[in-house]
Amino acid sequence: MNKQVGVLTAGGDSPGLNAVLRGIGKAAQENFRMELIGFRDGFRGLMENRTMDLDEQALSGILTLGGTILGTSRDKPHRMLVGGKFMDMTDAIVDNYHRNHLDVLVCIGGGGTQKNAYRLMQKGLNIITLPKTIDNDVALTDVSFGFNTALSIATEAIDRLHSTAHSHHRIVLVEAMGHRAGWLALGAGVAGGADVILIPEIPYSVEKVAKAILGRNRGGKHFSIVAVAEGAISLEAVAAKEKTDNKKKAKAAKKPDKRRRLDSMLSDSAHGGNTLNLAHQLEALTRLESRVTILGYLQRGGTPSAYDRILATRLGTACAAMIHEGVHGVMLAARGEKAEPVPLEQVVGKLKTVPLDHPWIESARYVGTSFGD
Ligand code: F6P
Repeated sequence: MNKQVGVLTAGGDSPGLNAVLRGIGKAAQENFRMELIGFRDGFRGLMENRTMDLDEQALSGILTLGGTILGTSRDKPHRMLVGGKFMDMTDAIVDNYHRNHLDVLVCIGGGGTQKNAYRLMQKGLNIITLPKTIDNDVALTDVSFGFNTALSIATEAIDRLHSTAHSHHRIVLVEAMGHRAGWLALGAGVAGGADVILIPEIPYSVEKVAKAILGRNRGGKHFSIVAVAEGAISLEAVAAKEKTDNKKKAKAAKKPDKRRRLDSMLSDSAHGGNTLNLAHQLEALTRLESRVTILGYLQRGGTPSAYDRILATRLGTACAAMIHEGVHGVMLAARGEKAEPVPLEQVVGKLKTVPLDHPWIESARYVGTSFGD
């Protein structure tokens, strides 16, 4: 019997998803004679048994396409909105896995997807995951596909913003994605020569950021570029958050699910608010005009870079070979030029944040970049 392989893409879309689907599919079908079934819109499609044929025709011409031909969602098997209520749909997912006679399910996604896939593994399903996220925060892999493309986009944005900042003598704050890890803001900040880089790993003092900008001004540079990760946080906010966190947790436990969902949407959108707020604070402290550019979904869209196409093809084809060998219960990590299996339980619940002694931070400090600390 040929092996039946299910595949889904979950979480935020990311450049390289189609390249990885093509890599898995072509290798699985052409080399190992496996059958491939795609599930639409992440775990929701698996729950609703909405499938897509990933035959040769479907996989052709998609290497360079952004997004995912399967569609995606942030639905979690154990907490899915069905008929206006959050329900545990794990059993329906397990049933559909068996109904489709799957030998293995490949889940492609970021940190949340690794967790959800692990839960399914604990229910007895054979799972392999692949690390995808523009945030680059999946643990135990050198890099996740999507990051390199997003890094180039954010860098180009900083390059372009320089002209306006310079011509108008303004502070330009550019917000990059990364709510828990600052890889994108840091990488684009270093590559684009940002004067200040603010990341979640290094809480900043607004006064110190203002001081760095004023210092540049005194040196004759009447503009500054501030690269801000959406999750960057001020020292003040850290202190306030610590105070209120415990109170909030107790309150949230008592709230109905719908209200909690609204709260999380509000706190997500507050990221843009943080950067706007910071811009106002800097204007007040420096008396320089400031503007904010939020890169948002521009960072996740469009064609993947050559690097991401190669990475996705490497991981996708290695995934098919692993399935052929009967390996499962792992995430395929990028380690140097290799694709190495890492037990899924070692990946879940971990976050790859930027180490404070990372060479990118060190180099940035050497060229005079301020981290506001
Ligand atoms: O997938 C990661 C990410 O890019 C984060 O940096 C960002 O906070 C989040 O997605 C926003 O995505 P969405 O609006 O799709 O929830």
